[in-house]
Order: sequence, then C-alpha cells, then structure tokens
Amino acid sequence: MSEQANKQVNVVILAAGQGTRMKSSLAKVLHPLGGKPLLAHVLATARALNPGKIIVVYGHQGEALRSAFPENDITWVEQPNRQGTGDAVAQALPFIQDDAHVFILYGDVPLIQPTTLAKLMEKTANQSLGLLTLNTDNPTGLGRIVRDTQGHILRIVEEKDATEQERAITEINTGIFLVHGKSLKQWIGKLTNHNAQNEYYLTDIVQFATEEKVKVATDYPQDIHEVSGINDKSQLAQLERVYQRQLAEKLMLSGVIIFDPHRFDLRGSLLAEQDVLIDVNVVFEGENVLGEGCYIGPNCVLINCKLGKGVTVLANSYLEGAVVGHDARIGPFARLRPGAVLADDTHIGNYVEIKNSTIGEGSKINHLSYIGDTQMGKNVNVGAGTITCNYDGANKHQTIIEDEVHIGSDTQLVAPVKIGKGATIGAGGTVKDDVPAFQLTLTHRLDPRSIDWQRPVKQNKPLKDEK
Ligand code: UD1
Ligand code: CA
Repeated sequence: MSEQANKQVNVVILAAGQGTRMKSSLAKVLHPLGGKPLLAHVLATARALNPGKIIVVYGHQGEALRSAFPENDITWVEQPNRQGTGDAVAQALPFIQDDAHVFILYGDVPLIQPTTLAKLMEKTANQSLGLLTLNTDNPTGLGRIVRDTQGHILRIVEEKDATEQERAITEINTGIFLVHGKSLKQWIGKLTNHNAQNEYYLTDIVQFATEEKVKVATDYPQDIHEVSGINDKSQLAQLERVYQRQLAEKLMLSGVIIFDPHRFDLRGSLLAEQDVLIDVNVVFEGENVLGEGCYIGPNCVLINCKLGKGVTVLANSYLEGAVVGHDARIGPFARLRPGAVLADDTHIGNYVEIKNSTIGEGSKINHLSYIGDTQMGKNVNVGAGTITCNYDGANKHQTIIEDEVHIGSDTQLVAPVKIGKGATIGAGGTVKDDVPAFQLTLTHRLDPRSIDWQRPVKQNKPLKDEK
C-alpha cells in the first residue's frame, strides 16, 4: 500500500459489548492475550494500516479503557445504549472521513492480521463494500452469507431471523467489513431495527449495497483464528494457546529450538539469536534478548533480561531486569533481580539472590547467598551462605569487593564495607570494617574448646547407656 492510500484508511473498533460471560470486573477487551490486552492487539493491527483515524466504540468502563490506552491517536466514542452493531458504528460516524476506506474491527477479535486486511482492501474496488467470510462446520449463532445462484452475495441473515434453509448455509459473516466512508454514512442512516432482536444490524448494509448494484467483494482470512472472538475465559485460554503456538513457530523458524512449543509462553517480545535452546515451561515477560547458543532450562522465568552468547540458565531460575555476559552459568534455583549485571564467565549457583550489583568477569557465587548493592571485581570466590547486609533498617549501603578476593563460607559483610584486592576472609565471620588487600582476615570467633558439661536428662528416665 502506498503512503497515499494509507492516508485514507479509518478504523472503527467495536468494543461496547458488556462481556457478561467473562464473569469479571475487568473490561473484556482489557483481558490479556500474550501479556497484552485484547484491544492492544487490535490497535497494533489497526496502526499497521497507517490509518488517518482509529475510533474505538466503548460501552462502559470508559475511564479504565482510556487510562489503559493513553495514546493520542485514538478517538474514543461512547455507545450509550447497546442497540446492535449498526448502532455502535453509528456512534462513530461523526468522526469518519467521507473519502476514507473504513475498516470495522472488533476489540474482542484480537488476532486479525494487517496482511489479511490489506488483501481485502486490494479486492474491494473504490466506493464499494468488502467483507471477510468463513466456511465453517459450526455456524451456530453467526450471521449466514446468502448468495444467488451465480454466487453473488445478496445479503447477510442473522441466525435468529433465518429460515431453516438459510440456517443450513455454512458460510458465515466474520463481522469484519471494509466500507467507503460516504456509503457507510448513507447505509447506516437507513438501518431499522425491525428484526428478531430489535437491534440495528450492521450486516444489513450488505443488502443496501446489492440493491444499489454496488459490487460486494468477499475474502477469507488466511487463518481461521484471525476472526475468532472471545466471549468467555475458556475461549480466552484457547486463543492464548493458538497465539503462543504462532509466536513459538516464528521463533523456531528463526533458528531457536523450543523443546515443546505447547509449553512455551511469551508475554512480550523475545529477540533470540540462532541455536538458542528453550526447555519446557519457560515464561518470558516484557522485552528479553538472548544471545547465540543460550540455554534456558525448565521452569525459568525471564523478565526484561539481556543475556550474552552461550549463557546457561539452569532449571527454576527467576531472572528480572538482569544483564548477563557471555558464557555465564546461572542456577538452578537462582534469582537475579533488577540491576544485576553479570560479566562474562560468572557463575551464580543455587539459592543465590543478586540485586543491584555488578559481578566481575569469572567471579563465582555458587551457593546460598544474598548479594545486594555490591560492586564485585574479577575472579572473586564467594563461599556458601555469604550475605551482604546492605540494609541498616533505614538506608541501603554499598559493598565493594575487589578482584581476586576469596570469602569463606557463612560470612556477613556489613555495608558500607570494602574488601581489598586479593584478600581472604576466613569462614563464619561478621565483617564490619574494611578488609586490607592480600591478607587473611579472621573475624572474632569462639575457638573450639571442651568444657565439663552433661546433657540434661528427663526425670526418672536415665540415658540408655547408663542403665
Ligand atoms: C455479529 C454479526 C454476525 C456475525 C458475528 C460474528 C451483526 C448484526 N451480526 O453478531 O453476522 O456472524 O458478529 O461474531 O452484526 N457490539 C457493540 N455494540 C453493540 C453490539 C455489539 O459494540 O451494540 C460489539 C461487541 O462488543 C462485539 C461485536 O460488536 O465485539 C459483535 O457483537 P456480538 O453481539 O458478539 O455479535 P452479534 O451481533 O451476535
Ligand atoms: Ca448479539
């Protein structure tokens, strides 16, 4: 499509349905699919058409909708009384340009693709009408496409108004239309609600078009799920799996190995280089980047992380807002929190939590540690159970650990504190003052000694070996 053609597109998104069957206090179109509200998907497709206008017709929860979508390219229009799809479009008419090609989309039909709409536009001559239809084994509840013997479309009949013969028709109306602005205004003006539901049917415009000898073009979507609507949480879950499968498919074709695409969840964007391996039940949220050859083990969660090449993340690790260098090894059961910046070849082992800290190249924190607000140099070895005490109850303080430091197991580093280059700290101590470089530092401890002591015994119950 040329820039010029794009300028004349208007998109109307109907979203005034009450969504009663969702049984939720959240507006239907705010329910998430792939981590984004349903309406966000439709808006993204609308924007891909580079339209002059996007008009969203809503019924209730206007405030919630507006604040979820503060972008200023949306014209919000309220439909005060829900009197049918024709009435919904009528509310948008004052904002529609006469010379525009107007797409009618639905806030609860999230997977419609710009390519399908562009194709419909190609098939639909100027000044005329186009619609997407579908052949289905189960047309129940949907509008049927009535054609003449030559196959020209005559009109759409809603199920509740259909004769038995018409109900047998398996070609249905998806609801998606492309109409010339001026014609739409004329036809909507002619709608009546003289039908089984006493509603103003948008679908009646098809009959008006054929009566005026306007050619009506029809096309099919490339994928049936493009026109699947969501009415309840079961359909939401089904479409989520369809969408996830599509996302997985794209990643696999770009060179990512996904062990089981049915157990893959992407709620945001994932930029993965080739030969990335993603094991089962991994959840990606926000924007993640994975370098070539990364392995993400089972049951991991990654939120807004950037991993270099060849990083291994073992099972059950939870990574949020972390930046990780090449060939690092994380987990199993590791937790990286925002501000964790790990250099190349670092090792973060089980039950280790890292927050707002930089970890230098080759450093290892392998077991049961908390490292917060810390600057750690290269080739540091942190023993099991080491804790940075970064919080004094009111403020957070920094710990600085220089290159080549070895910290014995079960050490508490009370911040602010600095451990000099090459220092060794003995196990089991509390470090409150700065530690000099290249020396062994032992903090106060009890030396092992024996004292005369007997285990207490229960009255009348002597110890076994005393009897
Ligand atoms: C409509 C079509 C039917 C088609 C079906 C596809 C009409 C008369 N019928 O059925 O031919 O097969 O969609 O799903 O158009 N909406 C409003 N305001 C209203 C009524 C509806 O905004 O007053 C919105 C709903 O939020 C929903 C969409 O329009 O997103 C379709 O409404 P729904 O009641 O689900 O469809 P039907 O009218 O039964
Ligand atoms: Ca209805």
